[in-house]
Amino acid sequence: MSPTSLFSSVEQGPPIEVFAVNKAFLDDTHPAKVNLSVGAYRTEECKPWVLPVVRDAEKRLAADDSLNHEYLPVLGLESFTQAATSMLLGGSECVAVAEGRAFGIQTLSGTGALRVGAEFLHRQLGYQTFYYSNPTWENHGLLFKNSGFTDARTYRYWNAKTRSIDFDGMYEDFENAPDKSVLILHACAHNPTGCDPTKEQWSKLAQLLKSRPSLFIFFDSAYQGFASGDLERDAYAVRYFAQEGFEFMCSQSFAKNFGLYNERIGNLTLVLRNASQVTPVKSQLTLIVRAMYSTPPNHGARIVSLVLNDPTLYEQWKQCIQTMSSRIKQMRLGLRERLEKLNTPGSWNHITEQIGMFSYTGLNPDQVAHIVSQHHVYLLKSGRINMCGLTTGNLDHVANAIHDAVTKVPS
Ligand SMILES: Cc1ncc(COP(=O)(O)O)c(C=O)c1O
Repeated sequence: MSPTSLFSSVEQGPPIEVFAVNKAFLDDTHPAKVNLSVGAYRTEECKPWVLPVVRDAEKRLAADDSLNHEYLPVLGLESFTQAATSMLLGGSECVAVAEGRAFGIQTLSGTGALRVGAEFLHRQLGYQTFYYSNPTWENHGLLFKNSGFTDARTYRYWNAKTRSIDFDGMYEDFENAPDKSVLILHACAHNPTGCDPTKEQWSKLAQLLKSRPSLFIFFDSAYQGFASGDLERDAYAVRYFAQEGFEFMCSQSFAKNFGLYNERIGNLTLVLRNASQVTPVKSQLTLIVRAMYSTPPNHGARIVSLVLNDPTLYEQWKQCIQTMSSRIKQMRLGLRERLEKLNTPGSWNHITEQIGMFSYTGLNPDQVAHIVSQHHVYLLKSGRINMCGLTTGNLDHVANAIHDAVTKVPS
């Protein structure tokens, strides 16, 4: 008789939608299939793009015989964390940087930064409640829960009628949030809606949050450069909160703006009120990382550090960001023009008004199912599309698919 497996009580977990949709796309043999699901940049030929500046940096690194594969320190490569923090906060013109009360630690991409930061907030500062926008990137909830948070809540963000941000709802939810809640705020290019607060709205939020000092702000910056094409402009909200004297954390991802998705290179920036707390906070972060993965990997950190610290490579990189963001803008225009030409019911101005990699189309789950099954165009149930999956070659096909769904499937 074979003994019962110790694993027999394990139940099947739910699929992760974005990977399941991607797999369905890969399995589809239709020649006109289009993938608008995964959040990664694609060229006009629908290919992944290794940024030329990244190739150059890699060649330099490969030719440098002085480099070795010794362990990095637990909190990562310092030339990387300092440059990444400066890129976010604006260097020594940021008072928190100048006063030595802002610092970064290297993490396993943006996800790792969120996870380390969340564990710190829960273990060291005792936070239990967190708020994420409705809708948000689908990993926020799981990440904070697995970090020990017990009370997950959402704040209003999307107004389905106006297809824009529900600022009043968001404001009211923050006003009513219980003390000691963490608020996850997308720093720019909100995923999935592509709608960010205006400068005036950020200012209103800052005024409100000044009167609620136990609410903790956790910025998530996964798309710096992708919203406007300009790194400085996309850092506006984070820099503004630093200037207003807030303490906060910010996760940074270099997956999208460097195209380094699988290198897992990120940074967790912390802005504190007192420089004297930097050393003890770092020591506790060190213990969290030590027990989680011990030390971070090297390759992505070296590439980003080289580029951010070399003026010529830095300019080259900014050009690459321009290339990516202007292609996305062209695709937005192209899709909107086609839908309007087809007289597709509804208004489509939100396609060009939204920013960043994604567009929240307003298509409902039935319309999405129709588009997938009838037209082989793959997107998330929420109606989110990755604009980078569009090319001049497939725009007509996608616009026709959306038109067909909107006219045949009730909204
Ligand atoms: C809003 C948001 N935050 C964080 C991430 C984390 O990405 P990564 O861990 O690949 O850096 C993503 C990735 O899609 C995202 O969209």
